[in-house]
Amino acid sequence: MKKKKVALLGGSFDPIHWGHLNMAKAALEHLKVDEVWFIPSNQTPLKDRVLSPAADRLAMVRLALKEDPRFKISTVDLSRNGKSYTFDTLKILKKQFPEVEFAWLMGADQANQFDQWKNADQLLEMADFAVVDRDGKEPESSRFNFKRIPMVYTPVSSSEIRKGEKINFLPESVRQYLLDHELYLVAWVSRHVSAKRLAHSASVARLCRMFAKAHGLDEHKAWLAGLFHDVAKDMPINEQKKWVAAINPAGLSEHHAIWHGYAGSEIVRRNFGIEDPVIQNAIFNHVKGTSYDPYAMIVFAADKLDPLRGYDSKPLISACMLDLYNGFMLVKRENREFLDREKRVLAEKESF
Ligand SMILES: [Fe+2]
Ligand SMILES: [Fe+2]
Repeated sequence: MKKKKVALLGGSFDPIHWGHLNMAKAALEHLKVDEVWFIPSNQTPLKDRVLSPAADRLAMVRLALKEDPRFKISTVDLSRNGKSYTFDTLKILKKQFPEVEFAWLMGADQANQFDQWKNADQLLEMADFAVVDRDGKEPESSRFNFKRIPMVYTPVSSSEIRKGEKINFLPESVRQYLLDHELYLVAWVSRHVSAKRLAHSASVARLCRMFAKAHGLDEHKAWLAGLFHDVAKDMPINEQKKWVAAINPAGLSEHHAIWHGYAGSEIVRRNFGIEDPVIQNAIFNHVKGTSYDPYAMIVFAADKLDPLRGYDSKPLISACMLDLYNGFMLVKRENREFLDREKRVLAEKESF
């Protein structure tokens, strides 16, 4: 009987993306394997950062596997403690599946370090090692003569995605998982705003969550709207103008300080895939407080009452905790009075 052929792809998958999936597709096509098994790794001491929880990484791999029925998952590394050496992983799998012929997939960078792998020479007898040309980089010549297979050029790394770059290289279901489970999102926002504004955004998000909890609303939704509410604020005014012209041309006649709300409501949809109209509406209206949807009231109030603004906002926070509508109206009145005062001061200055 013909042996089943399986290619193995190990990685931290923090998160899994199209680079990994295209590597697996290349193995199906060029190595003629029947299946590809993804093996999420354990926390390894060599990594210079703490990985996202194993449960999240595993869940994301599971979602991505829906891209092809021949993609499977193996928890062989996750189910044992300590560093996962390929040698041990292969030994366990070969014992568990004696009827399977294994191939091991690597990128050029891993192939270049193969000498340092535990029991490198023995490994070559345990499986076929194949180098996938995932970034167009040539592996350096070495004493190992690995089989090389081409793959669709997919220039992305997990670390880029963690920073909020190249999000379009995520399978749709994985991107949604990241949003739902609040993974990497603070880093995503940090790419677009100053450190000070990021601190404000995170603080507003916390307050939004607190208000939502107090009123039996969706805490995660409120947090998300709060975190992203100022995502367009540090964008050059000319850029903001383009977004406003595209989605709310009437807004162009308003003061440009208001534009970032309009622009942000569309940026979260286009750039981050936040399709929830309630979140978009809350961001759209957060500057002037022009929506009475509870999430919009929450974001408006939390933005103005952010404890980092440096005034005593506790009484109004308490008012919002007690009665959202009433609190919101009080914040709106305070805000209007504040703006009127500012205008008067400005007018007085100009009259001199
Ligand atoms: Fe704002
Ligand atoms: Fe703000």
